[in-house]
Amino acid sequence: MAVCLTLSMFTYCSVWTNGAGRLPRHNNISWRGNSALKDGSLQSVDLVGGYYDAGDNIKFGFPGAFTITVLSWSVIEYSAKYAAMGELDHVKELIKWGTDYMLKTFNASAPSIDLVWGQVGTGGIPGDTTPNDHYCWERPEDMDYERAAYSCGACSDLAAEMAAALAAASIVFKDNRAYSLKLVDGATVLFAFARDRRGRYVKAIPDAETYYNSTGYWDEFIWGAAWMYFATGNSTYLKLATTEGIAKHAGASGGWKFYGVFDWDNKLTGAQVVLTRFFKMMSPGFPYENVLNQYKNETELIMCSYLPQYKVFNQTAGGMMEFNYGAPQPLQYVAANAFLAALYADYLSATSAPVWPCGPNFLPKKVLRDFARSQINYILGDNPAKMSYVVGYRKRYPIRVHHRGASIPRGRTSRGCTTGYKYRDTKSPNPNLLVGAMVAGPDNRDRFADIRYNYNFTEPTIAGNACLVAALVALSGGDDKGVDPNTIFSAVPAFFPNSPPPPAPWRP
Ligand SMILES: *[C@@H]1O[C@H](CO)[C@@H](O)[C@H](O)[C@H]1NC(C)=O
Ligand SMILES: *[C@@H]1O[C@H](CO)[C@@H](O)[C@H](O)[C@H]1NC(C)=O
Ligand SMILES: *[C@@H]1O[C@H](CO)[C@@H](O)[C@H](O)[C@H]1NC(C)=O
Ligand SMILES: *[C@@H]1O[C@H](CO)[C@@H](O)[C@H](O)[C@H]1NC(C)=O
Ligand SMILES: *[C@@H]1O[C@H](CO)[C@@H](O)[C@H](O)[C@H]1NC(C)=O
Ligand SMILES: *[C@@H]1O[C@H](CO)[C@@H](O)[C@H](O)[C@H]1NC(C)=O
Ligand SMILES: *[C@@H]1O[C@H](CO)[C@@H](O)[C@H](O)[C@H]1NC(C)=O
Repeated sequence: MAVCLTLSMFTYCSVWTNGAGRLPRHNNISWRGNSALKDGSLQSVDLVGGYYDAGDNIKFGFPGAFTITVLSWSVIEYSAKYAAMGELDHVKELIKWGTDYMLKTFNASAPSIDLVWGQVGTGGIPGDTTPNDHYCWERPEDMDYERAAYSCGACSDLAAEMAAALAAASIVFKDNRAYSLKLVDGATVLFAFARDRRGRYVKAIPDAETYYNSTGYWDEFIWGAAWMYFATGNSTYLKLATTEGIAKHAGASGGWKFYGVFDWDNKLTGAQVVLTRFFKMMSPGFPYENVLNQYKNETELIMCSYLPQYKVFNQTAGGMMEFNYGAPQPLQYVAANAFLAALYADYLSATSAPVWPCGPNFLPKKVLRDFARSQINYILGDNPAKMSYVVGYRKRYPIRVHHRGASIPRGRTSRGCTTGYKYRDTKSPNPNLLVGAMVAGPDNRDRFADIRYNYNFTEPTIAGNACLVAALVALSGGDDKGVDPNTIFSAVPAFFPNSPPPPAPWRP
């Protein structure tokens, strides 16, 4: 897919469009400037920087960290492809923008912590008319309402996802020893905090529950531990990631609604996939192999479950998989799971496995790639609405994207909470093109309403876009390019597996 080259470049641009703080001069977005330079000042902490989440000006720590984990994962697997496109430095810079911010959200120089800043800005509840990031419609540069910062003292899901992000990024930056070590140290402190002080972060930051409810932290324990292990080679983390009880708590063997679906809330599938890679390529043996073999079996089944013929998930008449069961904003789920399918096909290639089992059948890995490509092509315009859901790509794409910065003319002030409503509510196209942004997507009958007010159709998110970038890079450059087999394991020691203990003596 030659188009990915240009497209993925655009997509990175769309992440810069959501950069907060003092933007680098070369950010290339003419309509963006410095913003939110006082974030955290009410609480006497420096929380300047990072990314706004979506069409609003909130910095949500939980999906924000996931964004960085996914981008880092894609770079670890596909750095050669990024480099061939001339985009490697670019994507690394974007990751660093996120990790630099994350390092400000906890005491990264302390041996242990009891607090993390998990959010800046307020969503409120729908209908709330106090000036906040959802009620007001102002460019980030013009914000003149108070921005609260929210901390939490028991937030296992958030802290473990942040640990995953910093750990994965430490592998991306392994050639910059000082920075990489700083990331590993930060991740270590965060992961210990996640384990020691149990809780879902939305209990401490209820404002996030309406928008980014986390349903549990056991998945982040496995996911975070996997990345901690890859970043450090410390087997304590591998033990944790392969602990039967934790796998059980995370629901690893299925039977629940979102089983198999990878997204900003549910990391279990990502963990199963990446640990299956580890199992197949490193053969760590006893005592890890039982649970790793289980993850492998589960991953194989999950890959089968993505395919329309098995009818685990519905497909719209136009061919889009309903990974979120027909609810609004489907494309971020489509992109995330297309990424995993394409990646798993590459894992099969890297282990010289031409097929994988779906019950009685063995399916060629091409089936997975074709599936992933069909889903990404749907996003790019191969759909009944003949609409590309990536702004700026092809002839028809959303022109009334739900995004404050893009919808308000630059140079004009939108100061005053509701001053910008005229820009939000006009039928005119956005004055600023959010090039490369994938929007929320169509409804479950393939219909799309290009209405700015309706975030269910027209709002892009950084987490969804990171998944799209990952899927695009996985699918680009021909089927034989594949993953970088070794970089992810650079800190992992070789295994000389112990023999398992002898079985207990037989007795009748
Ligand atoms: C950013 O701007 C520079 C200089 O104008 C240009 O060479 C580069 O291609 C641009 N990058 C993107 C991602 O648009
Ligand atoms: C961070 O931790 C270090 C080491 O424990 C301590 O000296 C410093 O005061 C802490 N910083 C803040 C802002 O609490
Ligand atoms: C958030 O998730 C928890 C745990 O699954 C659930 O009990 C709660 O109802 C959810 N909150 C919302 C607003 O959906
Ligand atoms: C491995 O990680 C655990 C948990 O953080 C830590 O207690 C232990 O000291 C680490 N081991 C090594 C060899 O660094
Ligand atoms: C995984 O699947 C294989 C083949 O079906 C089976 O022999 C094995 O017992 C399974 N292992 C686990 C841990 O589920
Ligand atoms: C698929 O669609 C049918 C008909 O709308 C619905 O009853 C069923 O619950 C859906 N199944 C899934 C897995 O989404
Ligand atoms: C978006 O979708 C949700 C869930 O279906 C619905 O409750 C909400 O009213 C929709 N919002 C708009 C603006 O249509």
